[in-house]
Amino acid sequence: MASRKINVGIIGTGWIGEIRAKVCANHPLVDSVHIAEIDPAKLARVGEETRAKTATTDYRELLRRDDIDAIFVCSTPETTHYPITKDCLLARKHTLLEKPMGLALQEADEMMTLAKKASLKFTIGYTQRFNPKYAYVKQSLLNGTLGRPVTALVSRNVSRSIGNKIGGRIRLSPAVMEATHDIDFILWCLEGTKPVRVYAQSVYRIMEQAHGVPDCQWIMVTMEDGTAFTIGAGWALPPGYPHFSTATLEFVGTEGALLIDDSHRDIVLNTMRGGMTLPLSTMPGEQVAHVYQGPMEAETIHFVEAVALDRAVLVTPEQARQVMEITLAADLSAECHQPVSLPLQT
Ligand SMILES: NC(=O)c1ccc[n+]([C@@H]2O[C@H](COP(=O)([O-])OP(=O)(O)OC[C@H]3O[C@@H](n4cnc5c(N)ncnc54)[C@H](O)[C@@H]3O)[C@@H](O)[C@H]2O)c1
Repeated sequence: MASRKINVGIIGTGWIGEIRAKVCANHPLVDSVHIAEIDPAKLARVGEETRAKTATTDYRELLRRDDIDAIFVCSTPETTHYPITKDCLLARKHTLLEKPMGLALQEADEMMTLAKKASLKFTIGYTQRFNPKYAYVKQSLLNGTLGRPVTALVSRNVSRSIGNKIGGRIRLSPAVMEATHDIDFILWCLEGTKPVRVYAQSVYRIMEQAHGVPDCQWIMVTMEDGTAFTIGAGWALPPGYPHFSTATLEFVGTEGALLIDDSHRDIVLNTMRGGMTLPLSTMPGEQVAHVYQGPMEAETIHFVEAVALDRAVLVTPEQARQVMEITLAADLSAECHQPVSLPLQT
């Protein structure tokens, strides 16, 4: 298909949807941006700042427009992900859905079938595959530098403001909401073998009283070829910056290892008013004057280009379903204190 400009819709312009909308509004392959947001104040502000062609409180208005090619589903709470995405796919829109893919495997299966039947591009936004440090791990596996994978560890902690924001809207675990990014990334690195067993433990000390959710979850996954990896995800850090995220990554192979510091302790802002903070440390990243720091701009452009230039999406729906299956197994395992075998019964 020849290159052409596309029209893009964004449903939900909160923290993430606003970033997506602004990246799209500035991209030369995007002709027009259309937004749907149920909060009238956000709708008016983001609509104006992105020069949106349509700004509506009813997302179905976007789906009725034949000229919209692609939609980003960025709404919360996460119970909205499946019904809104299903509507987008039924309206034959290429769709990027923010993680998590849905809340049950049946929802994932239904969305995958709809996308396949209508030959639509359908992907999930995990962002971290578009972090250059993470991409370097994948590249070092593909070019043989690391040899055969042996084991991997990702430990991620985010600030309590994120735990409170998520816990305030829905009762989902750190596995489903946080570890999901890193599970997607490690599974991508381990392509060619599949997960067979999951063991997880949760800790309840801070968030339980207010939200009924754990503070952190540790998840160990065993692959069919014997490789094992561990992901730790927590959302109980004191504030270090609004939506602060810190991660440590170790990837060990038969011929080499990569030890990655994604802790965001490389820039310290110290002010009389706020003391020391660690700016530019959020997971999706943020706009800094004329440049963007972080992976979400690249992921957004990747999806725009996939639709406009008819290229494959990097995260397939089948891969996202596998990620979801591990997060669901992790919740089951943490609850029953037993390892859980995959595949899960649906
Ligand atoms: N990949 C990443 O790095 C990353 C980081 C943070 C969040 N996320 C994911 O992105 C999603 C959005 O997170 P957020 O922090 O922006 O949430 P948010 O709550 O700030 O924004 C969501 C917006 O959706 C709107 N909304 C709800 N129902 C709607 C509807 N029916 N139609 C239109 N708008 C509707 C809300 O009013 C709100 O403004 C979440 O599901 C989260 O899991 C991804």
